[in-house]
Amino acid sequence: MKAILTSSLGGHDISFFDMIPDVETYHELRASVDWVVFCREQSEKALKNSCYCVVAKDEDDVVAMGRVVGDGMYYTIVDVMVRPQYQGQKIGSTIINRLVEHINNETPKGARTSIQLISAPGKEGFYVKQGFKILPNENAGSALRKVIYT
Ligand SMILES: CC(C)(COP(=O)(O)OP(=O)(O)OC[C@H]1O[C@@H](n2cnc3c(N)ncnc32)[C@H](O)[C@@H]1OP(=O)(O)O)[C@@H](O)C(=O)NCCC(=O)NCCS
Repeated sequence: MKAILTSSLGGHDISFFDMIPDVETYHELRASVDWVVFCREQSEKALKNSCYCVVAKDEDDVVAMGRVVGDGMYYTIVDVMVRPQYQGQKIGSTIINRLVEHINNETPKGARTSIQLISAPGKEGFYVKQGFKILPNENAGSALRKVIYT
């Protein structure tokens, strides 16, 4: 598979790919940033239903990813994670740029689309730097969420 971009970041040649990681890699990445690891069945279905997914690799090792779910009008960015030893090297922001660029390319001329996301605590500033606005603001109320456990 051909990389969409290769950059020298933090002393490593990091290559970015338009691809969905396998479920084991996805679970490893989630565990690396201390996030809950969902059951395999749910993870496989969710990854398959991504609209778009970007993976960053250092040689053959997957070191980061981010993905988008959505319907062409409303999109949500999820699973943005960079392995701890690779954080602070512009990998996360490169992934966000690519996700946003993809959504922009998918949006017809004259349309309006919006990208939502829920920041992990303390990561809001990262997204603000990528051009996201904290809610509520003058145009939108608070974000709300319901979590279902089965
Ligand atoms: C949050 C995360 C994705 C950022 O990725 P990263 O590759 O470390 O970030 P980058 O190096 O691309 O940072 C880009 C910019 O955001 C800033 N930034 C990074 N994390 C930040 C934070 N928590 N608060 C404020 N600014 C932050 C950087 O300083 C940098 O600023 P600059 O452009 O002025 O130099 C990554 O640290 C991570 O995976 N954390 C654990 C999982 C997580 O919380 N993911 C977010 C889920 S919502």
